[in-house]
Amino acid sequence: MSVIEQPPADGQGAADAAQEALRDRIAADSLTTRRDYLRIVATVSGGLAIGGIGVASGILHRHGDTDGTPEPRRIADQLLPGESLAFRYPEQEDRAVAVRLEDGTLVGYSAVCTHLACAVLWRQDRGTGGELYCPCHEGVFDARTGEVTAGPPPRALPKVLLVEEADGSVWAVGTTRSGESVQESLCRQLGAERPDLAERLNCPGTSAGGAVTRSERT
Ligand code: FES
Repeated sequence: MSVIEQPPADGQGAADAAQEALRDRIAADSLTTRRDYLRIVATVSGGLAIGGIGVASGILHRHGDTDGTPEPRRIADQLLPGESLAFRYPEQEDRAVAVRLEDGTLVGYSAVCTHLACAVLWRQDRGTGGELYCPCHEGVFDARTGEVTAGPPPRALPKVLLVEEADGSVWAVGTTRSGESVQESLCRQLGAERPDLAERLNCPGTSAGGAVTRSERT
């Protein structure tokens, strides 16, 4: 499994929570066989606990919006190094792009430019190892982070969380807001709905995460 962001695991508690919640979500969605599920869980416990909780909890909404819960969707049978894929997620009007970088890292982003909403394209011939490029006003985004590296776009591209299954298929399973990490997205949404998971992720405002500051509330 590879995902667009691989935050450090928050200890065994978070990994256990991710496994438990992911099992419930997968069972409910009937997306995978038990063998596939076991592979997902094994990978989550290997360092993707935070993303796993988000996927499992169904709280990584469409490009960071707070309404609706996107369903995981198979977007490709396979994506090889150097290949990219334009797709729609979580809704048909939401343009997105997935890229398998040459080192094997799988990344996914909204393909809607944060400047004036032109389509962002993967250009392997640009930069070092390729760039996400908006031809309208020469906007450029870092393929590994989605951050703006050139041009007028004011914000990073929102991320689309991708998962690679045992059979090589690639799934889109969630999104974050522009400039937001997976953990920040989860903490923002978990507080009221799943305080138990928020606690395990050391979210601000929980006993494990300390007091909430003014900036963190807004
Ligand atoms: Fe993308 Fe202007 S719309 S750089």
